[in-house]
Amino acid sequence: MKPKLEVKIGKLKLKNPVTVASGTFGYGSEFDGTADIDKLGGIVTKTITLHARVGNKPPRIIETPSGMINSIGLENPGVEKFIKDKLPFLQKYKIPVIASIAGETIKEYSELAGRLDSVKDIAAIEINISCPNIKTSKLFSQDENSTGEVVRAVRSATKKTVITKLSPNVTDIGGIAKSAESAGSDALSLINTLKAMSVDAKTRESRLGDVTGGLSGPAIKPVALFMIWKVYHRVKIPIIGMGGIMSPSDVVEFMLCGSTAVSVGTANFVHPNAAAEAVKGLSQYLKNEKIKDVNKLIGSLKV
Ligand SMILES: Cc1cc2nc3c(=O)[nH]c(=O)nc-3n(C[C@H](O)[C@H](O)[C@H](O)COP(=O)(O)O)c2cc1C
Repeated sequence: MKPKLEVKIGKLKLKNPVTVASGTFGYGSEFDGTADIDKLGGIVTKTITLHARVGNKPPRIIETPSGMINSIGLENPGVEKFIKDKLPFLQKYKIPVIASIAGETIKEYSELAGRLDSVKDIAAIEINISCPNIKTSKLFSQDENSTGEVVRAVRSATKKTVITKLSPNVTDIGGIAKSAESAGSDALSLINTLKAMSVDAKTRESRLGDVTGGLSGPAIKPVALFMIWKVYHRVKIPIIGMGGIMSPSDVVEFMLCGSTAVSVGTANFVHPNAAAEAVKGLSQYLKNEKIKDVNKLIGSLKV
């Protein structure tokens, strides 16, 4: 018998728990022909801002042992161009589109959420308050109060499912998660990238145009698992876990630590079909283990 793969994130029903992480799958069309997009549980778009952004100075991506550092700086065409030019491609697939948004002010987050609320084919909104590659002294996600303020503003601007994306660059991610939950977030996603650098001894320069960036990939997986486990025990809302997922067994590990769904990120740069392959592998794992429903895995780590 086929195991049940469907999971729920707020009001959102995903046919399986595997989505693609914001910023690592563009707006879908970039992967047309190389990935089985229709097999995914959902797509999280590259983060969209109110107005277009050109992003940071190149080089913006550098490979590191077991990972990569990026400093894209939220390059995107702005919300109106996203709706007009990018969304139509995704509408072809019958899978939920989760729009990731970011603003410089709380008002911008609220305006973006309000604008997307009226767009039928957006299934949910992910609030990116955790991008480490923008010029700001402190991220909204690095403070319980400002996390709560952004979430409250977005919550009152939309009836769609709201997911808050958290940063690992904090002392107590549990407290921040709790604050997002209390402010009305339907779910949490974590982790965004870890603040990092890569330096060239020969040139004595940073390998990134913007000097610093965010580390992702297998190198951060142990940190991600720990943070998900920690947050799982602080909140009641579902978690979308990510950070270095490369294989179906990674998906299982993230679910055991408390993720209801997962996002595949850096792996898309290595194997464009990694996320769809993970769905297949997850189903096989459940069959082998005689587990009828994937929801049984959530938080079931033996301790
Ligand atoms: C090149 C690149 C661009 C990214 N852009 C975004 C973004 O626009 N918004 C966002 O919330 N996260 C962004 N991220 C972070 C990922 O969504 C994810 O949280 C992180 O990379 C950890 O997962 P991974 O190790 O599987 O990549 C980006 C990551 C990479 C590698």
